[in-house]
Amino acid sequence: MTVLLNRDAWEKRYEEGDTPWNLSSPTPEFQLLLDEKKLFQEKMEVLVPGAGHGHDAIALAKAGMQVTAVDIATQALDSLLASAFSEKTTVQCFRENFFDLPNQGYHQERYDRILEYTFFCAIAPNLRAAYVESAVKLLKPKGAIIGLFFPTDGRSDGPPFAVTRKEVEALFSPHFVLEISEPRRSVKPRMGKEFLGIFYKR
Ligand SMILES: C[S@@+](CC[C@H](N)C(=O)[O-])C[C@H]1O[C@@H](n2cnc3c(N)ncnc32)[C@H](O)[C@@H]1O
Repeated sequence: MTVLLNRDAWEKRYEEGDTPWNLSSPTPEFQLLLDEKKLFQEKMEVLVPGAGHGHDAIALAKAGMQVTAVDIATQALDSLLASAFSEKTTVQCFRENFFDLPNQGYHQERYDRILEYTFFCAIAPNLRAAYVESAVKLLKPKGAIIGLFFPTDGRSDGPPFAVTRKEVEALFSPHFVLEISEPRRSVKPRMGKEFLGIFYKR
């Protein structure tokens, strides 16, 4: 059964600890990219939409980036901020609906990078075109989305809602130059069910 989640429903998931997406540590693929210092460089402005517990946002901040995390759920951001404090780093947090950001001058063309993981698949599929439009407005010229697109296993229910390479290419390619590859460090339960997308704004 398909369940579309609003703010209250996401809060409830956090309240009940029903957060199976939480890897409890930075995503290994992103940590590898961070260590390589090619796609990510110090001082870059990075937006993490639907940041959740924020392990990736914190890893980016520790690597010297200016990180902005956005989540609709207060409890996600409470957890993120507590972890950032323990890790002695800073992440700027907004409790917002991601789709409202492009209307706010502060966020427009602010970001060098958008880090995507399990947010694209968490939103209702009919919002995917709006995701792309929002990303275009939030990224600087030549900015990029770097993300793992999951799950590609063709499941019929969500969230997480299934993604296909074909759909992603059709949605993003009018506005982005796409590089799609196999991840080198997928976590075991997601192995073979995700692809790495590096999408440069045209
Ligand atoms: C599946 S979780 C992914 C969390 C994190 N990216 C990760 O990989 O661990 C999806 C997150 O998106 C948030 N979310 C859902 N809809 C949102 C929206 N419209 N705007 C901002 N955040 C949203 C949820 O509260 C949740 O924290």
